[in-house]
Amino acid sequence: MQPQGPILTIVGARPNFMKAAPIHRAFEAAGIEHHIIHTGQHYDDAMSKVFFDDLGMPKPVEYLGVGSGSHAEQTAAVMVGLEKVFLARKPALVNVVGDVNSTMAAAIVAAKLQIPVAHTEAGLRSRDWSMPEEVNRAVTDVLSDLLLTPSADADENLLAEGKPKERIVRVGNVMIDTLFMNLERAKLKDVPKELKLEHGQYSVVTLHRPSNVDDKETFVRISDVLLEIAERLPVVFPVHPRTRKQMESFGLLARWEGHPNVRLVEPLGYVEFLSLTSRARLVLTDSGGLQEETTALGIPCLTLRENTERPITVEQGTNVVVGTDPNRIRDEAKKAMSDEKRTSRVPDLWDGKTSQRIVGAISAFLRTRA
Ligand code: UD1
Repeated sequence: MQPQGPILTIVGARPNFMKAAPIHRAFEAAGIEHHIIHTGQHYDDAMSKVFFDDLGMPKPVEYLGVGSGSHAEQTAAVMVGLEKVFLARKPALVNVVGDVNSTMAAAIVAAKLQIPVAHTEAGLRSRDWSMPEEVNRAVTDVLSDLLLTPSADADENLLAEGKPKERIVRVGNVMIDTLFMNLERAKLKDVPKELKLEHGQYSVVTLHRPSNVDDKETFVRISDVLLEIAERLPVVFPVHPRTRKQMESFGLLARWEGHPNVRLVEPLGYVEFLSLTSRARLVLTDSGGLQEETTALGIPCLTLRENTERPITVEQGTNVVVGTDPNRIRDEAKKAMSDEKRTSRVPDLWDGKTSQRIVGAISAFLRTRA
């Protein structure tokens, strides 16, 4: 049965694109009208367009071009833009993904227009309220009619917050659909070779969290230990625009660029990045998604944060939360570089079929309201 009106999935920033791509494909396969709306929170080609091309996503039917700004400015601009879009397109349901400012902004607008909201990746909690994403996650989940979760810990968090059981559907991790779908293509590319690196003989670093890169003392401390690790294992560092700006202003860029074992590169496309991470010895990151991707790939990951909203990657996967203490980072890197392998397994329902389950859950939800 066709819902009364289209289903809209809202994307804004880089980590949203790999979640929306399989969802769009699954709605298309089911013959249900589905469109992607891009708020333009990320706007550089390297942070946005390359993913649409790489992941075979259709052009968004609307692009709001909100760009950067303070949190309030960015969130407000997304809200103003989306209100017009929702009024004009009259969606049967708005699907939001992840935890960026666009996610929360879309949920608020839809809820106030009394349009049902589904949240893909609901229930994750770091319990660290200094993280903008934690605010986005909690607000989005309060407003969502359908809470689509990736793992059992997420269900438990939602139930503990008093969310009704019937709103929660565990669907698995949709980002892993994209990973499995593209792994073969990624293996056909040899990005390590292009960078003159041997498979299994390098690390990949990504950093962009304000808590790591906006404070000079912290960023210098992290840089020192990462450059020390680079003495023993070459490192590839695709640099996020926020991070590059801070490296420049803290005088760190020359140190990184001048190191013979460091490859400082622009942000990479999805397939190129996967080509790199899937053959790495070790990943050091403060990203959320990369903690999950390394767990799915069985690649050791050190998370340079004090906490994670994705504890399953530590309990079952390859992730170790090391914070920003240089001694801890050094010790855990040593362990990961040794031959002794931690046992890990890919969590249940991270099986490449999450997008189909999302379509099933949203369709069932809309039938109950028809
Ligand atoms: C955002 C998300 C974060 C996600 C990350 C992935 C929020 C609160 N944060 O953080 O959860 O992990 O995306 O990348 O939504 N910039 C550019 N070009 C771009 C985008 C950003 O130059 O295409 C620069 C701007 O100077 C901007 C800064 O990077 O001020 C930060 O961008 P912003 O979207 O505010 O947050 P991210 O750090 O990217």
